[in-house]
Amino acid sequence: MPLDGVGAEYSVIKFDEVTSTNELAKKLHPSLNNKVWIVADRQTSGRGSRGRSWTSQGGNLFASLLLHEPAEAEHLHELTFVASVALNDAVHELSSGRVKPQLKWPNDVLIGGKKCAGILLEGGEIKSERYVVVGIGVNCLSFPSDTLHPATCLANEGMPQEKEIVFRTLANHFAQNLADWDRGNGFDQLREKWVSHAYGMGRRVSVKMPGKDEPLNGTFVAIDERGYMMLDDGSGHHKKISAGDI
Ligand code: BTN
Repeated sequence: MPLDGVGAEYSVIKFDEVTSTNELAKKLHPSLNNKVWIVADRQTSGRGSRGRSWTSQGGNLFASLLLHEPAEAEHLHELTFVASVALNDAVHELSSGRVKPQLKWPNDVLIGGKKCAGILLEGGEIKSERYVVVGIGVNCLSFPSDTLHPATCLANEGMPQEKEIVFRTLANHFAQNLADWDRGNGFDQLREKWVSHAYGMGRRVSVKMPGKDEPLNGTFVAIDERGYMMLDDGSGHHKKISAGDI
């Protein structure tokens, strides 16, 4: 079905239950057009970042957008910023400007310091054709209580919780931010927008990096032109971090 309001090039396919909308988008990608959203009411094996699972109870939003050849390889990770700025804009609009979300590097959206949405980028290349699946989970009606970082949901924050409305608002802002990003040519402006909502910037943070036991501590000073986190370790030396959990 075409998606109203975000341009004729987008469409959406809805399911009652899937293993994971990311998984399904990846499986179906050779037969799907560019810019197709896969949306499901429930996921039985929702995936979170770094191999974690994503609690997928009914009432929350589970959506994945398939993009064929969205940019050159070196720009693909910037799609995380497109998605998080779109989520920021959607939450802001849904709350009629009352809620100012914070963006936790690299891919979490927080309200009042608690996580309300997550993003998982997956992709691959088949016969030298590159594709990316942008998976987005929004806690609309409920949130898990046993998470690493405290969580919340839109209903808990006094916001509209109907996932249809949340999806349409998000899809519109995603389309706008994707167009502005312009395959990476507009990343500088997008990064500035992201930074203006950044969580923890200018403060001391502890970053747990994949495969490392000890976290790295320092002051979160900037996001560089590639989207990496710059951490001042106290010696004036800035360390570049490409992946990790704050
Ligand atoms: C995170 O750990 O913060 C990322 C969570 C991403 C969850 C979404 S829900 C829709 C899509 N399908 C999945 O299996 N995961 C993503």
